[in-house]
Amino acid sequence: MGRTSGQVRVRLTKRTLTQPNSPIGAHAHLLDRVPHNKPLLDLSQGAPGFPPAPEIQQRMAEVAAHPDGSRYGPLRGLPHLRDALLDELREVYGSNADLAVDDVCITSGCNQAFTMVVSAITEPGDEVMLAVPYYFNHDMWLQLDGAVPTYLHPSEGLSPSVADAAALLTDRTRAIVLVTPGNPTGHTIEPEFLAEFIEFARSNDVVLIIDETYRSFIPGGRAPHGLFAEPDWRDHVVSLHSFSKDLAIPGQRVGAVVGSPELLTEVAKLIDCVTICPSRLGQEGAHAGLTEAGKWRQDRVDEIAAKQRRFEEVMADKPGGFELLSAGAYYGWVRHPFVDRPTGDVVEALLLEQGILVIPGTAFMPTDEQHLRFSFANADIDRIGELTNRLGDFADRSQR
Ligand SMILES: Cc1ncc(COP(=O)(O)O)c(C=O)c1O
Repeated sequence: MGRTSGQVRVRLTKRTLTQPNSPIGAHAHLLDRVPHNKPLLDLSQGAPGFPPAPEIQQRMAEVAAHPDGSRYGPLRGLPHLRDALLDELREVYGSNADLAVDDVCITSGCNQAFTMVVSAITEPGDEVMLAVPYYFNHDMWLQLDGAVPTYLHPSEGLSPSVADAAALLTDRTRAIVLVTPGNPTGHTIEPEFLAEFIEFARSNDVVLIIDETYRSFIPGGRAPHGLFAEPDWRDHVVSLHSFSKDLAIPGQRVGAVVGSPELLTEVAKLIDCVTICPSRLGQEGAHAGLTEAGKWRQDRVDEIAAKQRRFEEVMADKPGGFELLSAGAYYGWVRHPFVDRPTGDVVEALLLEQGILVIPGTAFMPTDEQHLRFSFANADIDRIGELTNRLGDFADRSQR
């Protein structure tokens, strides 16, 4: 059928139409209805609430002012940033980590790292296991790209088990995705569990993708895992990184993939089509952060840990029946007490009645199990205590 002249209608695909809008900013249209006596407590986005280190700001200003500062850069990232990241990885993962610069590719953020890796290793219809609760963009991208997410529910505490992974495995399974420390739970998967997963990946010829965006926030600064010491790690492990959270440059879009050179050759083809290269300014900022802002970086990690302690203190008495299930990195994972109320409604009411903005757990899992994600990292530490009365008041009013 022809269209009436003047009518414009773009034909859209089910692939994108069936995906939700980002849960971040989903309540922006309600922000002017927050009660006047309860100013907004925005615990929604996992973004640093502080500016980057002065060294980072200065380097980016210098590069911006340099005549070559806006040129395209190498596809896999600026060589001096790749070298600096390699040095950092050797320090973090220990001297027995077998890593070389050809294992490192800089990307436009960790999200790009994930998407390009998935596109490089899955055919349409291939399955990828996501540990639940998952990072919502992982689930979305798999579906957008034609892969099929399967859901690996936690067994012991919040860590998934290889026994459950074995039960979910099919001949279409290509990868398992773990995020540690987790978004939305903040939970750190212990190195022993990760070691079991590489064994599993090895014996079933699948890839273990580990999103390590929050690795700087692992308590005690201990090594995230020992997988880079495994002689064949390149055959089974892909590790994803971000400079957004601990260097506070999320808008500069810089991250990295650490994986086999063969995989990175394919990833580079994809990057070439999408962004051509990562932002030069952002990469220089990341380089300054890695090489010049070590103390600043540790101070910010300590600052966020102090916010976590305050949040845990406040939640210890389960204000209003809201129960903290886990906390770490940027996030607290909380169960709300309203069994018969959809979590989306709870989130909206918390905002409209109490000025508290959080993300519903349904953004991170396929079912509604009364979860909420609180991002304490960007909260003002002196205001976290307001949760006691606000959550208590919310529960009182809900019972009336
Ligand atoms: C687990 C996880 N991976 C990736 C990202 C995105 O990181 P980037 O800003 O480096 O793309 C986030 C951001 O919230 C995240 O939580």
